Amino acid sequence: MAEQPTSPMLLPLADGIVPQEVVARTEKRWLTAMTVVLILMLVLVVLTSTVGALHPASNVEVIQPLTLHLGGEFAESNLGTALEPDGSATVRLIAEQYDFVPHCVQVPVQTPVKFRLTSADVVHGFLLPNTNVNTMVMPGFVAEVRTQFRHVGEYNMPCHEFCGLGHHGMWTHVIVVDRDVFAGLGPFERTRCGHK
Ligand code: CUA
Repeated sequence: MAEQPTSPMLLPLADGIVPQEVVARTEKRWLTAMTVVLILMLVLVVLTSTVGALHPASNVEVIQPLTLHLGGEFAESNLGTALEPDGSATVRLIAEQYDFVPHCVQVPVQTPVKFRLTSADVVHGFLLPNTNVNTMVMPGFVAEVRTQFRHVGEYNMPCHEFCGLGHHGMWTHVIVVDRDVFAGLGPFERTRCGHK
């Protein structure tokens, strides 16, 4: 009688079980295919970023993320909704792990609104459902989106770019109010929403 191999891997296979060499060959084939796809995608990313001028969403406006709080446009006192001389509104927000600062802003209805955002740490997303507002927020760049709200209402805004373990809890509010109501709000109230 032939000697039985000691390793379970070398025992003869029961009918219907794919032999080890066949499994190994198939795995190697898929591994090669995946490696080729990965390299192809990497080459595409490098090519499009160098030749195709791939750049952040909206405009290319750089900013130093480490010193946002020290002064300039994104200093804390300058965040929230500001009214421009032409009657439009500008909202400045900082996205950071895991919240938007400020956490809630009020904007006037039927008025051009410009959102300017930047990140203090990693890449975040800014999306207002049912509007054209949808942008990535990258550290080092200012993202700018313009919109106009036609109706009074409240928008819940989840961060839609995975940014870490607390990503699911990162969201903010944008509350659209009547123009008269907005005119009556002080700069402090525009950046807070009372009950929020
Ligand atoms: Cu911030 Cu996800």
